[in-house]
Amino acid sequence: MTSLDDFIDGAPKAELHLHIEGTLEPELMFALAQRNGIDTGYETTDNVRAAYDFSNLQDFLDIYYAACDVLVTEQDFYDLAWAYLQKAHAQNIVHAEIMFDPQTHTERGVAFETVITGLTRAMDDATTQLDLSTGLIMSFLRHLDEASAERTLDQGLEHRDKIIAVGLDSSELGHPPEKFARVFARARGEGFLPVAHAGEEGPPANVSDSLDILKVRRIDHGVRAVEDPALVERLAAAEIPLTVCPFSNVRLGVFATLADHPLKAMLAAGLKATVNSDDPAYFGGYLNENFSATAAALDLNRDDVAALIRNSFDAAFLPAADITALHTRLDAYVASSD
Ligand code: ADE
Ligand code: ZN
Repeated sequence: MTSLDDFIDGAPKAELHLHIEGTLEPELMFALAQRNGIDTGYETTDNVRAAYDFSNLQDFLDIYYAACDVLVTEQDFYDLAWAYLQKAHAQNIVHAEIMFDPQTHTERGVAFETVITGLTRAMDDATTQLDLSTGLIMSFLRHLDEASAERTLDQGLEHRDKIIAVGLDSSELGHPPEKFARVFARARGEGFLPVAHAGEEGPPANVSDSLDILKVRRIDHGVRAVEDPALVERLAAAEIPLTVCPFSNVRLGVFATLADHPLKAMLAAGLKATVNSDDPAYFGGYLNENFSATAAALDLNRDDVAALIRNSFDAAFLPAADITALHTRLDAYVASSD
């Protein structure tokens, strides 16, 4: 019988919560810094990794945004995305919905067009060369004001065909969903599918407000919803997908250890949970590592893993026929695994 880790590695999977800026490995950071004549402030890649000892979300965000300074040219964004897509392909990810933070780059003078052209060129290459389908999610930074998000939406509209959804990320505490009610309404009106980070560090009310005010189709993280039984019931009844990121939650101090993570309880409560890597270069692993370590810590079995993968297919922003095809592929894989 194949081990659970081998089953996880070989299974066709989708990733729905992945910040492309969070895939910047220290080695690529140094290569881009050298190419662009930038001082990273670090001596070695070991020094960089040693700095990844976060006590909370803000701690991480400060380091993550600073590292983005090495991303300057269209080729830099291409190289960043292509490195992730090759890793994703090696892990048998067959569909990836990728978030990017335009304001992290436009705020320091990099053109929106430079960012999106580099990213989408890599995504197009993944479709043709790796048989990996992708979607792009434009995330607004919640620590900036809504006017900045509105300007970002205007820029996104110039590239409407390249973007499937809008998201909301960065510092959750102190920046509740209602701060972005108007820009989300306009984005929905333009046909973008809405998602938002909520219930990561922030209270369960941010999850319900994201549903009620931003009218999101998925919740990114949502783990703190488990503190509110009525909210859990609502999420389960409405089959709202939650893009859960176990390594991220532990590295950012949301839960002390993986054994304390509520993923198994969320499945048992009927929630449409999925597993994702969030910012894999910073949190100690990509999708398969998240699955394997979480399964070990929570005693998840093959059926649990398959259920999590099926949830991610159902939650993908894809046409129904494509979702059916993904299920067929997984069913064949499960049937062929001994
Ligand atoms: N940006 C990148 N990763 C994030 C996370 N886990 N939460 C909020 N914003 C983010
Ligand atoms: Zn995230």
